[in-house]
Amino acid sequence: MTLFDVYPLFDIAPARAEGSWLWDENGTRYLDLYGGHAVISIGHSHPYYVKRLTDQLNKIGFYSNSVRNPLQVEFAGKLGQLSGYHDYQLFLCNSGAEANENALKVASFLTGRRKIIAFRKAFHGRTSGAVAATDNPKIVAPFNAGHEIVFLPLNDQDAVTNVLDNTVAAVIIEGIQGVGGIQIPDDSFLQFLETKCAENGAMLILDEIQSGYGRTGKFFAHQYANIKPHLITMAKGMGNGFPVGGVIIHPDIKPWSGMLGTTFGGNYLAAAAGLAVLEVIEKEDLLNNALEIGKYLMEALGALKPVNEIRGRGLMIGIDLPESLKQVRSNLLHRHRIFTGESKPNVVRLLPSLGVTKEQADMFLTAFGEELKATD
Ligand SMILES: Cc1ncc(COP(=O)(O)O)c(C=O)c1O
Repeated sequence: MTLFDVYPLFDIAPARAEGSWLWDENGTRYLDLYGGHAVISIGHSHPYYVKRLTDQLNKIGFYSNSVRNPLQVEFAGKLGQLSGYHDYQLFLCNSGAEANENALKVASFLTGRRKIIAFRKAFHGRTSGAVAATDNPKIVAPFNAGHEIVFLPLNDQDAVTNVLDNTVAAVIIEGIQGVGGIQIPDDSFLQFLETKCAENGAMLILDEIQSGYGRTGKFFAHQYANIKPHLITMAKGMGNGFPVGGVIIHPDIKPWSGMLGTTFGGNYLAAAAGLAVLEVIEKEDLLNNALEIGKYLMEALGALKPVNEIRGRGLMIGIDLPESLKQVRSNLLHRHRIFTGESKPNVVRLLPSLGVTKEQADMFLTAFGEELKATD
């Protein structure tokens, strides 16, 4: 059998990893500043994480959501403590798209409405509902799971005012647009959405799948705006590579039996992975590290020419380059052995482990500076 060939792949097969380092099959070492799309939050193969998962697997790895699972309760408690959402509720699933799908479903259940407002260049996943709320013609779904999606420009209050009325089920917005090129919603725009949603009985859904879990230096990116959405979706860094997704749900939203469900979501191993990540984030003070190293990187990058713009918060950084420098990302990988991400057309995306060090940041800055000089 062959693989269904849907991914443009680099011809590198990581064989071993530790912290922010990866080694391929030939023993060549790479600095990983991308973490497989923002997934590696506490570093590859973190010893505490490995032990927590191994110990759990030796006890019980899986049982479905047909029995009481104390680890899920512990996970919800720890997440409430670290995120500040003590009074909210947690539904666990397996991926980002699934989290968004469930959030959209809850919004439709509660409001009895099907219209969703999303934003240009948004990315919310690849299931039919999540992909329908994704503004990218290449990956748009052939149908939209019964939702009517309206795409509006980010940060445009007038456009929202014209559409957001009492027929709208939800507004879904990323804490920071990741795939769309590290575009940051204004704090005032998020506050405006919170108010308008409340006025019109619509749900505000914050997609924190890429921007969440400490990446920006706050637990969730929207916390810079001091708002409290009805639903917050998460995945990626939650399990540091183990597939874990979730929705944080406002206390006024009451569940009923069978409202949502999943076979794998929140299983013992997933909950152990989620707990290990939170425990390491707390113990190693990774939110502060994300703030500190992020600030250091952004200041240093901001001084480099010719860079169009540096956008980001904490360790979610986009380096917007002129068209003539579009080779830089590939050169960083092949010449300097540094993994970064991209957003089309010319944004280099940095989404490293939240534990990345200043020395590793300096290695990147040196390599990046050399690449810019080479193209002078
Ligand atoms: C903001 C955002 N939402 C949703 C998703 C979908 O997550 P998943 O690939 O786990 O389904 C992604 C993935 O890149 C994302 O960046």
